[in-house]
Amino acid sequence: MNKVRAAITSVGGYVPETKLTNSDLEKMIDTTDEWITTRTGIKERRILKTPGAASSDMAVPAIQEILRKKNLDPLEIDCIICATVTPDMVFPATANIISDKIGAKNAFGFDLEAACSGFLYALTVGASFIESGRYKKVIVVGVDKMSSIIDYTDRTTCIIFGDGAGAVLLEAGEENFGLQDAILKSDGAGRNWLYMKAGGSLKPPSLETVTSKEHYVYQDGKHVFKYAVTGMADVSQELMEKNHLTGDDIDWLAPHQANLRIIEATRERIGIPQEKVMINIHKYGNTTAATIPLCLWEWENKLKKGDNIIMAAFGGGFTWGAAYLKWAYNN
Ligand code: UT7
Repeated sequence: MNKVRAAITSVGGYVPETKLTNSDLEKMIDTTDEWITTRTGIKERRILKTPGAASSDMAVPAIQEILRKKNLDPLEIDCIICATVTPDMVFPATANIISDKIGAKNAFGFDLEAACSGFLYALTVGASFIESGRYKKVIVVGVDKMSSIIDYTDRTTCIIFGDGAGAVLLEAGEENFGLQDAILKSDGAGRNWLYMKAGGSLKPPSLETVTSKEHYVYQDGKHVFKYAVTGMADVSQELMEKNHLTGDDIDWLAPHQANLRIIEATRERIGIPQEKVMINIHKYGNTTAATIPLCLWEWENKLKKGDNIIMAAFGGGFTWGAAYLKWAYNN
């Protein structure tokens, strides 16, 4: 009997309307459009400005797009996995809040935190639920309201991040379509190069942690860059070799959108032309767990049944990984 594969059968996305452009940032901090563009490839990012709105408020419209497109009753959803580093609250899980807001009364759900690799981790976990036959319809959503943890006076981080959500529906794939393989990695020794210094049980919130701005993203960009360039390219190459793939076999690379130079290094290593790389970093910046599903969302109309897609990410933790997917439908 053939192995059951988990296929992505629909994609939804959401980005807030408000744009924060490089020229806006030029007025806020000591930077230039030229510096940001050449160092990162970013021109603008989206910011969730609606008062009282949180990550779940971006995840909900992304998932509702899937429900509409698939004519799916939310009661049919078995499970919601939410990848995020910016949950609505420390607890309960944002997945539960999302379930309530969309009326997925029969679903269980949980949050998964693997920073920029969160979507790939969540996709792999969700796929196992389908492959095992235990569940039929799993929603995986990557969402981050990065603007809620960014210090807009810190020019080394505020130029990079943006807000957004991307979601996929996983179901058993026909024939051999769906997730073929994934390699996920982590190394906790990287935790001090990209993290939030306070707010957890190690250093609970206090007047002092707020005053010293320890509830914002801290990143040693140069250090992370070095590991990201090799990490993302190495794991993509490893996955391709394991599956006997060359650049000619790959139709699309859907990379995490952290820095155009990191994407370019991965593209070069796996040997594919630029036109096969999904890039939207110029419009959305780094939306952490949302980057890869937002790429799939934007490219959905161009994807054809049977297309071989490599997804790759690197992020805080450190966490990194790559997944090999055979696209399951024509739109
Ligand atoms: O998604 C999760 C994983 N994260 C990543 O993958 C991000 C990895 N890191 C990066 O993408 C890059 O390191 C950054 C985009 C964050 C920074 O680019 P860089 O080329 O590594 O710059 P740098 O940190 O080496 O800084 C070079 C110079 C410094 O000035 P000096 O010391 O050479 O005088 C910085 O102070 O650029 C300065 N600088 C800026 N200048 C203008 C730093 N930020 C800015 C800025 N505008 N926004």
